[in-house]
Amino acid sequence: MSFNTISVIGLGYIGLPTAAAFASRRQNVVGIDINARAVEAINRGEIHIVEPDLDTVVKQAVQDGFLRAATQPVAADAFLIAVPTPFKGDHQPDMSYVQAAALSLAPVLKKGDLVILESTSPVGATEQMAQWLAEARPDLAFPPQAENPDIHIAYCPERVLPGQVMVELIKNDRVIGGMTPACSERACELYRIFLEGECVVTNARTAEMCKLTENSFRDVNIAFANELSLICAEQGINVWELITLANRHPRVNILQPGPGVGGHCIAVDPWFIVAQNPELARLIRTAREVNDAKPHWVLEQVKAAVADCLTATGKRASELTIACFGLAFKPNIDDLRESPAMEVAHLVAGWHAGTTWVVEPNVDAIPAKLAHEATLVSQEQALQQADVLVMLVDHHAFKAVSGDRVAQRWVVDTKGVWR
Ligand SMILES: NC(=O)c1ccc[n+]([C@@H]2O[C@H](COP(=O)([O-])OP(=O)(O)OC[C@H]3O[C@@H](n4cnc5c(N)ncnc54)[C@H](O)[C@@H]3O)[C@@H](O)[C@H]2O)c1
Repeated sequence: MSFNTISVIGLGYIGLPTAAAFASRRQNVVGIDINARAVEAINRGEIHIVEPDLDTVVKQAVQDGFLRAATQPVAADAFLIAVPTPFKGDHQPDMSYVQAAALSLAPVLKKGDLVILESTSPVGATEQMAQWLAEARPDLAFPPQAENPDIHIAYCPERVLPGQVMVELIKNDRVIGGMTPACSERACELYRIFLEGECVVTNARTAEMCKLTENSFRDVNIAFANELSLICAEQGINVWELITLANRHPRVNILQPGPGVGGHCIAVDPWFIVAQNPELARLIRTAREVNDAKPHWVLEQVKAAVADCLTATGKRASELTIACFGLAFKPNIDDLRESPAMEVAHLVAGWHAGTTWVVEPNVDAIPAKLAHEATLVSQEQALQQADVLVMLVDHHAFKAVSGDRVAQRWVVDTKGVWR
């Protein structure tokens, strides 16, 4: 049984590449988004996000008539929901976007349809979504209540790396968590349209937890490296050398420290586990706290460097220029969302009485958050004229500068680029 029409709800960093991947396999795809400007752009064959190769696939798919976008759900045979799942102020998951998406598609559901939740979600979210749908459509039978449900429902998380989405979407293995074995089978059938990786079948709760576990694993391991960097600074040990040496052990593989942990996945998803298991998730919570505290520790390092510089040069603080290198949340991208480097630059600029410069080769203008407190300058200007340097992101452009070219005595290097 094939799918005549596939609908993807939420056309952002995950939804649009997924819609494009189906459409590029000559499937009839309707993408739904509440953002009318995104919908208009896609219908013109353009994209509203930055992701390599996505523009050409979308353009071709729209031109060939396999992909179109709309602001309201229409009837389809499979629906994939990829809307945001942020956390609220108290670190509780905010499922309101998923609820709104589910309720918006409920009126067009028909017997035999498949509904897949792709948004990163707390355990039990798929059952909750099925319940919302069942309440909205009492005329249809849903799992887990019905033995032979009219609607198949599954949770299938996404684990792609921004910047490589069009490759990883196709090649990565996919965890398929159906609410029943038949739901899993139908979901596998759908993904096999473009998937070259394996469909690995489990139940919905395990699939939900699997996604949260993957990002918590990364967060805990980065927190270990970040904690080591604090301890090493206190003990007068070079943390980069230490990690290189320790990793010579055949069963040790320590990650690299940095200014904190950013992005909208690793810094968010572990809180979903903590929110549901506050007494048990002690290590996961502590890792979040260690990583969230790192930008403040970097500020203290900057303060110490500035104090030393003032003593050595006899200058006043207002005469000093601090240059922060990098704002993105990871190397060689322009994404500044939830970036610890942005946070450090903001903390430094807010504290420093003199001039704060930022160097970010991947953006053209100073971000609004820093507009009134810092100036975007070139790498050369910062290297030649700043008094104190703060290295925050290991962009290629920064790594290309050899340590010998860095004349400043006061360098706070959170990435070990100019060690
Ligand atoms: N970006 C990643 O690298 C990544 C990786 C794995 C998992 N995820 C998860 O995937 C989900 C989506 O993330 P994203 O990065 O694509 O988000 P995004 O913000 O880029 O896109 C979400 C889109 O959903 C739209 N939307 C919101 N409510 C809607 C509704 N009711 N109906 C239709 N459209 C609606 C928004 O307008 C937006 O265009 C999240 O749960 C995220 O945690 C993201």
